[in-house]
Amino acid sequence: MRRFLPFFFAIPVFLITAQSTASSLLDFDQGVDVRPVIRQAGEIAVPGGDAVSPETIPANADDTVWISISRNDAGALGDELLKRALVGQNDSISIYELKVSGLDPLAAAMQRRFHMSPGFFTHDSLASALEDLSQPPPAAARAFSIDQGEKVAAMLKLVNEDAVTAIISRLSEYKNRYYRSVTGVASSKWIYDHWKELSAGRSDITVTAFPHSAYPQESVILTVRGTIEPDKVVVVGAHQDSTAGGSDKPAPGADDNASGIAVVNEVIRVVAASGYKPAQTLKFMAFAAEEVGLRGSQEIAAGFKKEGVAVQGMLNLDMTNYKGSAEDIFFISDNTNAPQNAFLGKLVSTYTGYNWAATRCGYGCSDHASWTKNGFAASFPFEAKMGEDNPNIHTAKDTLAQMGGRATHSFKFAKLAVAYIVEMAK
Ligand code: BES
Ligand code: ZN
Repeated sequence: MRRFLPFFFAIPVFLITAQSTASSLLDFDQGVDVRPVIRQAGEIAVPGGDAVSPETIPANADDTVWISISRNDAGALGDELLKRALVGQNDSISIYELKVSGLDPLAAAMQRRFHMSPGFFTHDSLASALEDLSQPPPAAARAFSIDQGEKVAAMLKLVNEDAVTAIISRLSEYKNRYYRSVTGVASSKWIYDHWKELSAGRSDITVTAFPHSAYPQESVILTVRGTIEPDKVVVVGAHQDSTAGGSDKPAPGADDNASGIAVVNEVIRVVAASGYKPAQTLKFMAFAAEEVGLRGSQEIAAGFKKEGVAVQGMLNLDMTNYKGSAEDIFFISDNTNAPQNAFLGKLVSTYTGYNWAATRCGYGCSDHASWTKNGFAASFPFEAKMGEDNPNIHTAKDTLAQMGGRATHSFKFAKLAVAYIVEMAK
C-alpha cells in the first residue's frame, strides 16, 4: 500500500540544524505557526511511511529498533505485540526486535497493563540491546567528603524559588515536548537558547546540542570547564521530553519533567550569578527522549563510556515539585550508587533543614539507569515515596497549577544540587 506523508517529513534535517544555528526561519518559539504552510505545500509519498498527524516529525516506520524489557512484563503482556520478535534473553530480561511503528502500541499496552510508559529500554542497535543481558560494570569506588561550607553557603543564598517556578511555567506552555513532535523540537531549542543566554560572557562555558540520529529532538549539554582537573567530569541531568502518548496529545509535563530541567537550570543560573569556577568539569544535560525508553541518556552515557570519560558522579533530576510524602527528598535505592546516595543524604543534613528517606523504583525508571548501566555512579533524588508521587504525570493534568502554582518543593532539590556540584567538583 502506498502511504502518504505530509511534506513535513522532508524537513527534519532543517529543523535539527535550526537549533544549532542562530537562524530562526521557522521560529516556533516566537509563535509563528508554520504548520498551515507545510500542510499547503502538499503531500509527498514516502514508501513504508506511516500516516502521521501534522504535529509529528515521523520516523521511517520501517526502521528497526530493539527493546529490552522485563521477562515477566513481556510474558504477562501475552498478546501479539512481542511474540514473534524475540532475539535474546536471560533469566530476567528479554530482547525483542520491532519496527518503529510497533513502539507506540507497545507503550500503550504497557501503560494499560502496568501503568508504566513504556517501562522498557529502546535501543538503536542490537548490540546495544544485548548489552542489557549482562550485569552492568560496577562504578569505581571513591571517597566523598564535605568541606566546602563557605562556598556552598554563599551559593545557596542565590537559589531562588521564583526563578525555578518561571522555568516550569515556560516549559509547560508547550503543547507537549514529545521526542518526535514539532513542539518537542521547539522546546529543545528553547533550552539551548536559554542556556546560551545564562552563560553569555563566560569563556569557560560552552553549550552544545547533541543530535540523535533516530529522532529529531536534541539533547542539550552545557559544559563548565574545570580549572584544575578538567578531565574529571561531574554530570547533573534531567529529561526534557514529556508525553501523554504521542505528538498530538497535550502533555504539559510540569512535574515530569519541567521540574527537573528547572532545577538543572537553576544550578546553571547560580553558577553564572556567583562567578563560581569548579576545579573539575561540570556537565549539565537536558536529555531527549527519556519517556520512550531512556533513549537520549543511553546514547550519551554509552558514548562517554566508550570514550573513557572520567565521570565522577551523576545526579538525575526527574519529578521534583510534588510533595506527596512527609519527608522532603527520597533517594531511589535501586539502579543507583549506594555510597553516593549516602553522601547526598549527608549533604541534605549538613546544608539544609530538610529531611530525607530512601525508596525503591523497582525498575530502571529514569535516566540514572542509563549511567548506572554504563558503569558510572548515579543517584536519583525523588519527590515522594514510591506510590505517593504525582498521580497526574503523563496526562494533560500535569500542570504547575495542580502543584499550587509554585516551585516550593523543587527549590529543595535545587539547593541539594548546588551543594552536590560544589562538594564534588573541588
Ligand atoms: N518520571 C518518570 C519515572 C517515575 C515515575 C519515577 C513515577 C518514579 C515514579 C519517567 O519519566 C518515566 O515515565 N519513566 C518510564 C520508564 C522509562 C524506562 C521510559 C516509566 O516509569 O514507565
Ligand atoms: Zn515520565
